[in-house]
Amino acid sequence: MLEKINQTATYIKGKVSIAPEVGIILGTGLGGLVREIEQQEILEYKDIPNFPVSTVEGHSGRLIFGMLGGKKVVAMQGRFHFYEGYDMKQVTFPVRVMKFLGIKQLFVSNASGGMNPNFEIGDLMIINDHINLMPNPLIGANIKELGPRFPDMHSTYDPSLMALAKEVAAANSIKIQEGCYVGTTGPTFETPKEYYYFRVIGGDAVGMSTVPEVIVARHMDIPVFAISIITDLGVPGKIVEVSHEEVQIVGAKAEQKMTLIMKQMLTKL
Ligand code: HPA
Repeated sequence: MLEKINQTATYIKGKVSIAPEVGIILGTGLGGLVREIEQQEILEYKDIPNFPVSTVEGHSGRLIFGMLGGKKVVAMQGRFHFYEGYDMKQVTFPVRVMKFLGIKQLFVSNASGGMNPNFEIGDLMIINDHINLMPNPLIGANIKELGPRFPDMHSTYDPSLMALAKEVAAANSIKIQEGCYVGTTGPTFETPKEYYYFRVIGGDAVGMSTVPEVIVARHMDIPVFAISIITDLGVPGKIVEVSHEEVQIVGAKAEQKMTLIMKQMLTKL
């Protein structure tokens, strides 16, 4: 795997002039942040050696390099999900590559279903912990050059980045929630009892991404900030039918707030 990561990073370095300091992974329908990136240099996933190709509607599949909030960034517009049939090494491969490109922080976004009864559709939630219900991406031989066999998962979500996000949200009068993200494989949304179960075990929101990428970033000691847009509710009495289209519509509305927070955080890093 090391050889593949090196090969891909070397290819990318030969194609773009920006050496990114921060990596950004954009969730379902949340690609709008890329419009704010200046001095863009773009690589299509299909042209990048060893990169999987994104298949889901709403994920266009490009790496966008440029400046955001005065920082050099690389944004993944479109991510790889386990439910698409990729294995966990493929799902997390871009995070390995971003580390080799030199990122010092990783920002992650996603759309999720809220189980916390205080949440409303369209809320933003800072992820402060997770419960992993997917296969662990670190299963298999450990590559010690990348990180330890048994990575610590305390402070998985960087406390100073969370504090900065709250400060920025408050300064802009943006309502912000905070909580635990439950990562499931999907592709089914939850039954009412599954939402209830995820609430009982300590979850505030549930989704089908993020956790694998975060685990791999932490394996390599990259500080992580993650934010979720609550696109539907799995709260007893408030559960309504949920569709991928709806998730994208709500996501698109809330993403302006998320973009503003991420951009101002970058400025203050
Ligand atoms: N469950 C799982 N994944 C999701 C949801 C949900 O309710 N909403 C958006 N992604």
